[in-house]
Amino acid sequence: MDRILVTGGAGFIGSNIVHHLIAHTDAHVTVLDKLTYAASLESLAGLPSDRVELVVGDIAEPDVVGPLVREADTVVHFAAESHNDNSLEDPVPFIRTNLVGTFTLLEAARAHGRRFHHVSTDEVYGDLELDDSQRFTEDSPYRPSSPYSASKAGSDHLVRAWIRSFGLRATISCCSNNYGPWQHLEKFIPRQVTEVIDGRRPRLYGDGRNVRDWIHTDDHSSAVLAILERGAIGETYLVGADGERSNLEVVRAILRHFGRSEDDIDFVRDRPGHDRRYAIDSGKLRSGLDWHPIHSDFEAGLQATIEWYVANEAWWRPRKDAVEASYAARGQ
Ligand code: NAD
Ligand code: DAU
Repeated sequence: MDRILVTGGAGFIGSNIVHHLIAHTDAHVTVLDKLTYAASLESLAGLPSDRVELVVGDIAEPDVVGPLVREADTVVHFAAESHNDNSLEDPVPFIRTNLVGTFTLLEAARAHGRRFHHVSTDEVYGDLELDDSQRFTEDSPYRPSSPYSASKAGSDHLVRAWIRSFGLRATISCCSNNYGPWQHLEKFIPRQVTEVIDGRRPRLYGDGRNVRDWIHTDDHSSAVLAILERGAIGETYLVGADGERSNLEVVRAILRHFGRSEDDIDFVRDRPGHDRRYAIDSGKLRSGLDWHPIHSDFEAGLQATIEWYVANEAWWRPRKDAVEASYAARGQ
């Protein structure tokens, strides 16, 4: 791994792994990012200019992707349209970026014989009942619910087909819900934290009992690096940190942090097709690759993340009104 191409490296998780790769490897990193509304160049500040290069471009454009993949020895593919609510409003960019974009990268990796890692999501496995004792494993059936998760599931299938049919040297990781600094305000935790900072009430979809399995984005990055360094070609690894919490529990922790009443909540229109529960069994990654999360205490990680948003209002404030306007239009 001398030259790594990171797609979506100006996004929430992609920028985290760029910092992680610079800190923990000697590689040169090229970021390919279209700089959509979700990107943040501030998240890449402070990186050494002789080791990190930014190329602004679209992963669905073969003429952009081809030369960059040829120059790299490893491609780590994070770029995606990532927000479920947006995919329900307009699936078009999800199909183009998540499916056509992944296809375009796979064809370039095949042409140049490059190592490929595909970053995917636990949502490809659909959802679990609240009282189900099972968690997702690598053998769970694909059963996506939303246009977003269906587009990610489709991209996983493309990667698997390129491995089997063309011998592409590829791996896949399916991670649970990430939290941490630099996450876009449209996502659950940043939205609720900034709503409370602004003196408003958090908004829970439906009955608020839906469960997500939270992992700090630093731990997602260390898992992807472990797979790049020690993962078996052709394998899928589930990434999770045993962080199952209901949305209600998370919002109450945020309200407690600010000294507000834990009942200060508005219940709003549910997300159509809203997945009930995600839960990850990451045993294969832990025992097979000796990976372990550092942020195993979700409450401590959440407190630090809340404090980051308090300290970094200059970053999120210019984005806040547009995000709330789009939620207001949806009655959420
Ligand atoms: P994000 O929305 O914060 O960032 C996505 C980045 O991709 C942005 O910088 C954007 O500009 C870029 N991008 C979008 N379309 C592009 C295109 N056509 N060409 C080039 N760049 C493009 O997303 P995120 O939350 O950081 O997620 C990153 C990846 O991790 C995604 O593949 C997502 O499916 C996966 N994932 C996310 C989570 C999570 O909790 N956020 C969990 C598991 C997996
Ligand atoms: O599980 C991994 C996935 O996690 C990733 O693949 C996605 O890219 C990422 O966006 C995330 O998807 P979710 O749909 O789970 O995340 P979101 O932050 O949109 O919502 C988390 C939960 O909170 C979900 O149950 C919906 C709920 N929610 C969300 C918002 C924004 C609310 O109750 N109120 C809100 O205002």
